[in-house]
Amino acid sequence: KDRHTDSVSAQTPDLHVPDLESRITPGLEVVERRLLDAVSSSRDLTDELTRHLAVAGGKRMRPLLTLVCAQLGDPERALGDPVITAAAAVELTHLASLYHDDVMDSAPTRRGVPSAQHLWGNNRAILAGDILFARASLLVASLGPEIVAHHARTFERLCEGQLNETFGPTSGTDRVDFYLQVLADKTGSLVSTAASFGALLSGAGQLVADVVSEFGEKVGVAFQIADDVLDLASSGEQSGKTPGTDLREGVDTLPVLLLRRREAAGMIDEAGAQILRDLTGDLSSDEALASVVERLRAHDVLEETRELARTWARDAVAALSALPKGEPKTALEAFANLMVDRLVCPASLYVRSSRRGVAGCGVGLGRGPGASGLWRACGGLGGCGCGPGVGVWRLVVE
Ligand code: IPE
Ligand code: IPE
Ligand code: MG
Ligand code: MG
Repeated sequence: KDRHTDSVSAQTPDLHVPDLESRITPGLEVVERRLLDAVSSSRDLTDELTRHLAVAGGKRMRPLLTLVCAQLGDPERALGDPVITAAAAVELTHLASLYHDDVMDSAPTRRGVPSAQHLWGNNRAILAGDILFARASLLVASLGPEIVAHHARTFERLCEGQLNETFGPTSGTDRVDFYLQVLADKTGSLVSTAASFGALLSGAGQLVADVVSEFGEKVGVAFQIADDVLDLASSGEQSGKTPGTDLREGVDTLPVLLLRRREAAGMIDEAGAQILRDLTGDLSSDEALASVVERLRAHDVLEETRELARTWARDAVAALSALPKGEPKTALEAFANLMVDRLVCPASLYVRSSRRGVAGCGVGLGRGPGASGLWRACGGLGGCGCGPGVGVWRLVVE
């Protein structure tokens, strides 16, 4: 047990409630240890593969949400083993989906490092994702049949969303509506589950669980819309991913769909029309892709997309109206805003783990000092490629 736990430290992003933050930070550290244990429990050869993305970093926003929502229940249970187990299981499920998603999207980088399939090939990356999902299932198995069923339905929705994204809408379906449903399924479902597990397993009751579940679903959609903007508007150093990946793979993300909607309504400008024409062409060269990314970035459809993300985040906050005023509610509101803020400021890592001999970078959420709201947090080893707006903590090599 606790083979990789020597020096895990976690930092909670600014949720405007310092007391609550300091209460949950030790919980996040325990989650991190559980996570590192869960990704490391087989033979050394497979370990390296299954640990790859977890040690590379990540914002850990889903387990963070679980712990915040657990503050709505019985204080004695807020950091109890079931809550911690669920938080770790939710992040593991997310991790599993990232291994698979990068295969589907042929994504070269993730969390600032080469994606698993880039290093090990598709077969191994897919199997690693399967192993992580199995380990998540094992964790939830201790939480009772209702949680197991909830988790299974979530994974089903996640896969449905990913599948529907590849199938695309049937004729007659509004493409934007279809896309938003894809986002709700592939991303909203797990964020929603992360929230409701926190409420349910801390004894907050079904009504509260329903409230935070709706909140999570909407925040998840806002977050994924923000991700579409980031795919275009950030550098690879900022997002830890390769810009324009969606475009190259022919995935029509929201900015492109909004352009198509303008085109269908006969309301498109020449710059927009040219972008759409270029998207049907060959984007395999880096220059061709960079040119389309550049022009989409400059087009006002990007601001329309940002505004949609803000609207979803506002709706998420509105879903909390039934909750009493207090720290957890304030924290959830701040959480929703962080999801949209990352449109401007992708910011810092809040989980830092270290282990002898392992080095890597991670990107996470946070809020920094200074008028620009940008900051960088770097472990000081240098060379981690962090840019403005990104905090990269180097894993400390002891
Ligand atoms: C990436 O999720 C995939 C999406 C659903 C947008 P995150 O942005 O939470 O990824 P990590 O965990 O921080 O790497
Ligand atoms: C995120 O989808 C993966 C899942 C929700 C399973 P995307 O393909 O849109 O996200 P990124 O940009 O690769 O993180
Ligand atoms: Mg992807
Ligand atoms: Mg994808």
